[in-house]
Amino acid sequence: MTIKPLVLLPDPVLRKKSDPLERVDDEIRALADDMLETMYDAPGIGLAAIQIGIPHRMLVIDCSKEDEDKAPIVFINPEIVDSSDERAVYEEGCLSIPDYYAEVERPAEVKVEFIDRDGKAQQIEADGLLATCLQHEIDHLNGVLFIDHISKLKRDMVVKKFTKLAKARNSERL
Ligand code: NI
Repeated sequence: MTIKPLVLLPDPVLRKKSDPLERVDDEIRALADDMLETMYDAPGIGLAAIQIGIPHRMLVIDCSKEDEDKAPIVFINPEIVDSSDERAVYEEGCLSIPDYYAEVERPAEVKVEFIDRDGKAQQIEADGLLATCLQHEIDHLNGVLFIDHISKLKRDMVVKKFTKLAKARNSERL
């Protein structure tokens, strides 16, 4: 397993729409392991493949609490097939936008169909943090970031800040 470098805002790769996977093989399972290792190392509770630069519709999530056993789930070609009218607000962050957090309102419950790491079709009904995490990560597969759900004023400020940081990083490399 390898920890991969994270793609950070404002890299245009994050705006790419990811493509569905046609099959789940050992290569994909190895990628899932790398994604989990990268996520745990960060640390984070969810990671989409595009966040390490790979445009597959694939994500990993572990919403277990600190005092609980690890509970990683690999979602391949996840699709939201139902969502509740009831909404919930969570403070969200993103490994591609480090150290920035903002409250986002989303449906409180979602039903998601996906393929698991063994290539089996699965369905999950999620609420609470897992529901929010799934929606945040599935957004990534469509090139959508959580800052797209906050005000334009706040979003412009974050993008500006991260654009400056990226420029500073690039000039350090020269
Ligand atoms: Ni994210």
